[in-house]
Amino acid sequence: MSEEGSSGSSEKNTVIRHSEISPNQVKVPLKPGFGLSNWMTIVRKGQNVSGISPRRPVTQDELALHKTREDCWIAFAGKAYNCSPYMDFHPGGGDELMRSAGEDGTELFQKVHRWVNLERILAPCLIGPYRPNVAPSNNFLKPP
Ligand code: HEM
Repeated sequence: MSEEGSSGSSEKNTVIRHSEISPNQVKVPLKPGFGLSNWMTIVRKGQNVSGISPRRPVTQDELALHKTREDCWIAFAGKAYNCSPYMDFHPGGGDELMRSAGEDGTELFQKVHRWVNLERILAPCLIGPYRPNVAPSNNFLKPP
């Protein structure tokens, strides 16, 4: 019985969606009730599950203090989020999220799946604007 496809390599027949920088190359099995649709129900309700109310700015120093699974703050694109409530819902698994715990995960996120609508999905986890100690040099109009 020949292998599916014509590559002759069984590896090529395995569906693995991955990023080069991620050692965890397959989607992890999520616990029942922790699928994307379950999370989107929370998103649609417009709830604040960040643990901080009212929302407020977060400095880099403060962000760095929250780096455990149960208390995991991460900055993405200039905003600080409490990612703990999302941990078990993340299709890539909690360990992947933890790689940016207490840090700015923007670059890593962009490398892994920049097509994901982070702002919408993480809206319930938003704490507030992120204030890095040193302002990022992102002024693309500035000459080198
Ligand atoms: C920076 C830390 C993160 C890392 C290292 C990471 C890593 C991963 C990995 C390895 C996958 C599986 C990729 C695949 O199946 O092709 C994944 C999937 C996914 N992640 Fe993340 N992730 C991070 C942050 C986030 C955040 C903050 C969100 C929420 C906005 C998110 C939402 C998703 C979604 C929706 C998928 C499924 C994507 C798809 O099927 O195309 N991830 N992630």
